[in-house]
Amino acid sequence: MSNVTSLSVNGVARPCDADAARSLLSVLRDDLALTGTKYGCGEGQCGACTVLVDGVPVRSCLTPVGTVGPQKITTVEGLAQDGKLHALQQAFLDLGALQCGYCTSGMLMSGVALLAKNPHPTDDEIVRFMDGNLCRCGTYPRIVAAIQQAARRTALPSAQPSKPGDTP
Ligand code: FES
Ligand code: FES
Repeated sequence: MSNVTSLSVNGVARPCDADAARSLLSVLRDDLALTGTKYGCGEGQCGACTVLVDGVPVRSCLTPVGTVGPQKITTVEGLAQDGKLHALQQAFLDLGALQCGYCTSGMLMSGVALLAKNPHPTDDEIVRFMDGNLCRCGTYPRIVAAIQQAARRTALPSAQPSKPGDTP
């Protein structure tokens, strides 16, 4: 397989020259200097390396870069827009949903994917969806709370609970 010469990352075409068999994680971190995505286990077990590929959370440690093609990659560096943190990043900060922070970028990417798919998840749905992301510091309750806060803050007007007196 020929080398990968370009990747679409965070809305920008990034030139590269990477052996197609290398992991997406390695190319993001070592070639493109996007070190927000972390190397944890390297075996698909911890979720620290999670990025979005066309909106789907993937384990970049197990993803050969040659399989990505023209799909759009989003890393934690791509969540903030116009200098403003993503609602989920802000919620992590507001609620202290991190200690050492090593799992955080992976948690954020999985959480963003969850909210895109299910804007109003229950706590159980959050726990199930985030099951593959491990936090050695045990901040799980705050992570769930942060996802709930982001869900509330990004709720569409049509999704708001109706006010007393509203016609159903
Ligand atoms: S580093 Fe990829 S799942 Fe742990
Ligand atoms: S905050 Fe330390 S591993 Fe999650």
